[in-house]
Amino acid sequence: LMAEKGGYKHFMLKEIFEQPRAIRDTIAGRLREEEGDVYLEDLRLSDCELREFDRICIVACGTSWHAALVGKFLLEEHCRIPVEVDIASEFRYRNPVVNDRTLMVLISQSGETADTLAAMREGKSRGARNVAICNVVDSSIAREATGVVYTHAGPEIGVASTKAFVTQLVALYLLTIRLGRAIGTIDAERGQAMITELVKVPALLEKTLEINDAVEKTARRYMNARDFLYLGRGINYPIALEGALKLKEISYIHAEGYPAGEMKHGPIALIDENMPVVVLVPRNSTYEKVLSNMEEVVARGGRVIAICSAGDREVADKAEETLAIPADGGELTSILLSVPLQLLAYHVAVLKGTDVDQPRNLAKSVTVE
Ligand code: G6P
Repeated sequence: LMAEKGGYKHFMLKEIFEQPRAIRDTIAGRLREEEGDVYLEDLRLSDCELREFDRICIVACGTSWHAALVGKFLLEEHCRIPVEVDIASEFRYRNPVVNDRTLMVLISQSGETADTLAAMREGKSRGARNVAICNVVDSSIAREATGVVYTHAGPEIGVASTKAFVTQLVALYLLTIRLGRAIGTIDAERGQAMITELVKVPALLEKTLEINDAVEKTARRYMNARDFLYLGRGINYPIALEGALKLKEISYIHAEGYPAGEMKHGPIALIDENMPVVVLVPRNSTYEKVLSNMEEVVARGGRVIAICSAGDREVADKAEETLAIPADGGELTSILLSVPLQLLAYHVAVLKGTDVDQPRNLAKSVTVE
């Protein structure tokens, strides 16, 4: 079994460390750098068809739903099409506004999640065409979809999704480029710039993984907390949600993800000297805003674990703990930020002695409603 785990103690840790390779595989053979475009071999939607959509609906469950929330930012930013994100079990019973001008995007690692499959069928019955982002080749959702973008992360064994998640983000980025190029909101030059950002990610991820030992130390200090709050803003709000989910899933500690700016409308009441607050504060357009949210936490005695860009003295001075990602990966910084959060959940769980790869009550894929 140790061999299967490639020398790692758990599949989850192995899969976290496989992420740079997984992303290289997601990208492999798909870049058309000269044209500033990408080639998605199973998309099965022509440029002409891609121009027919006036709405995008992304539907998924669990971690894949968090990827969907990131996808909304990418697609709206670059394609200027309204994107709605829904949880599959909600979508299927909601009389959704979906028609033949709607592109549905289904995200599912396994391609077998019952609610996501049902949501896809529901959309189809209303005339929507769809694209599935799946990891498992020839899975039910992949087979029934109009088109597929496979993530090619390789088999994911740990119940808590890691490499499948980051490759879903990459697949969404690829889909954004393709759609934007087809409908004309992304020109060749912009497409090239986006590809340039993308190809930097695997090496940046490798650098980010060097944080592992530091995260383990942080985990030791906070492992006995009863609750954690995770704050992020904009495109990194879903990353906060995902960080909280990882901790819940494998360490059984209650954790909540929240948009940093919304904290004052509720969760701030929870903050005291026992409350670790993980704040995602990379240098981006909302940096100053998140910094002031962080100060609000500190002022109430909260214990801030800041995930920030390397060399950020200002954050380091204010937070109890900082974990730095190597550099600003632009829009793809979300991928880098995911790593310390995965590792934090992992180490807390290991220290608590839970069954990291097979957490209680959870299944790798939920094929019943
Ligand atoms: C289960 C798994 C999660 C996963 C979710 C959706 O709850 O434990 O890790 O995110 O299903 O799975 P899918 O295969 O559709 O992405």
